[in-house]
Amino acid sequence: MAANAKGRIRKAVEMILGGDLHDLPPPAPQIGSNRRLVIVSNRVNTPAQMKSNPGGLAVAMGAALHHRDALWFGSSGELVDAPADAPRISQEGNLVRALIDLPREDYNRYYAGFANGALWPLFHYRVGVVDFSHENYQAYLRINEEFARHLVPLLQPEDIIWIHDYQLIPLASCLRARGVTQRIGFFLHIPFPAPEVLTTLPVHGALMRAFADYDLIGFQSASDQTAFTDYMLRERDDATASNGWIEAYGRRFQVGTFPIGIDTAVVAGRARRAAGTARTRELKDSLSGRKLVIGVDRLDYTKGLVGRFKAVERMFEEHAELRRGVVVLQIAPPTRGDVAEYRRVRSELNGLIGHINGRFGEPDLLPVRYLNRQYSQDILFGYFRLSAACLVTPLRDGMNLVVKEYIACQDPDDPGIPILSRFAGAGQQLDAALIVNPFDTAEMATALHRALTMPLAERRERHKSMIDVLRGYDIHRWRDLFLTELICVDDQAELPLAEPPRAAAALAEAGT
Ligand code: G6P
Repeated sequence: MAANAKGRIRKAVEMILGGDLHDLPPPAPQIGSNRRLVIVSNRVNTPAQMKSNPGGLAVAMGAALHHRDALWFGSSGELVDAPADAPRISQEGNLVRALIDLPREDYNRYYAGFANGALWPLFHYRVGVVDFSHENYQAYLRINEEFARHLVPLLQPEDIIWIHDYQLIPLASCLRARGVTQRIGFFLHIPFPAPEVLTTLPVHGALMRAFADYDLIGFQSASDQTAFTDYMLRERDDATASNGWIEAYGRRFQVGTFPIGIDTAVVAGRARRAAGTARTRELKDSLSGRKLVIGVDRLDYTKGLVGRFKAVERMFEEHAELRRGVVVLQIAPPTRGDVAEYRRVRSELNGLIGHINGRFGEPDLLPVRYLNRQYSQDILFGYFRLSAACLVTPLRDGMNLVVKEYIACQDPDDPGIPILSRFAGAGQQLDAALIVNPFDTAEMATALHRALTMPLAERRERHKSMIDVLRGYDIHRWRDLFLTELICVDDQAELPLAEPPRAAAALAEAGT
């Protein structure tokens, strides 16, 4: 999924708002069905993008939402020189999209400057890559203000508002300042850093204050939630935390862990169909019986691609017998080219992959096929099903849905095996994968060899365990738990402080 430059958030929102209606499960009327859901994200998918790309959240929340009104608000991607006019509104069934054009200079400082030049590396523990400036931070605040200015006139009193990801942390504060009193939830799709890391950001105090204007803040993993709570307790004398409730800054709000999933059944069905397509057959034929190892990542320095290919080199070095028996296919669409570190990692990877092919290639065989291009999910799902192993080795990742899609795409009778970083949120859920430390080249090389030589019975057993997790905790469940919790927050005045959050309790029961 991450390979698709549409981005995880847009996919998630598509899922919330209803993708391919044929694949929808029965509606879930208990999730605030009489209230409109307002989703806000930096990017918004067009109807055409939703059709070509229905994965992620779209189908899940669509189950509830195509029976009621929904508004999806975000940036149009168009940049203008002056402040924007009113949002461009379009309607498709019950879903209204409202898109705003944003002022060019502020947008660049907000997107490439603060969101992706400072917050992204910081939240992924790459303090040395952070490029902070107060000017960029001010532009980040102004763009959030711009979102609020255009969103407020569209809001209705009973709306439930759900804001997504690090680009929009201050949005609740901007909305509250304009008199918005509706419940507002926030989901952080990326990791949350430990307080020692976060406090290196000069504006950490203001950023954290902004979180207090939400009613519910959702994290991908328990360690993210713990890091957030630790910050409050260490840095704020007025803070108390108990059973997922935090009191600080004179506000009381809830935090919870909601690991995002995929639409497991739909992905599996699409992979079965994709297995027979001409695209999949062409790739299969080109392998001439060799095993395929696949990696699909945005070309981002957090994805650990350089370390991954050092491990690939080491495996070919140690196992000469595999040099003519294995092809590694890495799909890595370039992303955020305006940020220097992305250009640097791209150039380093070009050199390393050229070196591996130069060292182990033959006139009739290149061991690594490297493509800086995007592929649709239906093509990728066929490739996943064909692959004996998948390399998912980020240095840090909120969840990583590529690994979940890879697992769902496998043939249960002859499944491939993922090699998965312990620093991806998915690594905390899927312990039957081959879990590796992405900073340990030798360990990754050994795991790759192990995946390629694993007996069928062990592969089946591991796959069964992983697919059971993905079926039990899919995207529908993620959406339902978050929204149930957000709507329950309505009752917070009546809830004693000691009562555990209801959705969080359900999550604990499910053992996730
Ligand atoms: C990650 C982030 C998303 C972002 C996506 C694509 O998944 O969590 O918020 O949308 O990457 O990145 P882009 O900068 O192209 O939106």
